[in-house]
Amino acid sequence: MSPLLSIENISKGFSSAGRQIIALDNVSLTIAAGETLGLVGGSGSGKSTLSRILLRLVSCDAGSIRFDGEDWLRLKGAALRRKRARMQMVFQDPLAAFNPLATVGTVLDDPLRIHGIVARDRRPGEIAMLLERVGLTADHANRPVRALSGGQRQRVAIARAIATRPSLLVLDEAVSALDVTVRGRILELLVDLQKQQGIACLFISHDLAVVRAVSHRVAVMDGGRMVEIGPAAAIVAAPQSAAARALVAAVPCLVTDPS
Ligand SMILES: Nc1ncnc2c1ncn2[C@@H]1O[C@H](COP(=O)(O)OP(=O)(O)O)[C@@H](O)[C@H]1O
Ligand SMILES: [Mg+2]
Repeated sequence: MSPLLSIENISKGFSSAGRQIIALDNVSLTIAAGETLGLVGGSGSGKSTLSRILLRLVSCDAGSIRFDGEDWLRLKGAALRRKRARMQMVFQDPLAAFNPLATVGTVLDDPLRIHGIVARDRRPGEIAMLLERVGLTADHANRPVRALSGGQRQRVAIARAIATRPSLLVLDEAVSALDVTVRGRILELLVDLQKQQGIACLFISHDLAVVRAVSHRVAVMDGGRMVEIGPAAAIVAAPQSAAARALVAAVPCLVTDPS
């Protein structure tokens, strides 16, 4: 079976203050349907640039991406809008994406309406179901986003991301701003969602312990290159690259296998 996502030889340079930076150098990876691939690497290794290219927020210089059977970077217009529902993102700071005055209900109603997921009269029920699925309750719908804790906001961000029934979630440092206990609960939620709904994830973090807790396979980036990719347990037990060894060394006790 062909993979859900196939990133092939993506390169991207930036010029900054007269200097040319190679942010991505020939990066390739695949994600199978229902698989969680962890993408880990130090600061500046190119992880966010790759996620932005994948979400089509920035263009790349070379390479191609196949997603859900389509030549993803070439999709335009209505076909692109339709397909966008199938790839959703969760970033570090959900407040940056949500109007703080909006209620949780409107935050979740938007994607349902925009992508025509369910008819108007069924949307309140769908919103209640989404809230329950991420460990909140139906009455959270009436609360303003700004009244929520960091962990609750990230749950709402995840509910919003799964509202359009995506086949792929892209999470870029999605738990990095949360304290350890809350982070653990959000990681548990992600593993649950992944198991129950078979949503594939590209889970990006600078922290190998966090990546290890949710990922089937792990890809390691260093200086814009993909230096290592393989089963999470194998990379933790026997890192091959200097970058992977440094990431393993930075984590005194790694969390247990999700599978
Ligand atoms: N818009 C931009 N303009 C110039 N340089 C950028 C831009 N975005 C990223 N970079 C550079 O590209 C490299 C990779 O950055 P990034 O993808 O954010 O890394 P990571 O997410 O792994 O920390 C860094 O050297 C960064 O400074
Ligand atoms: Mg980043």
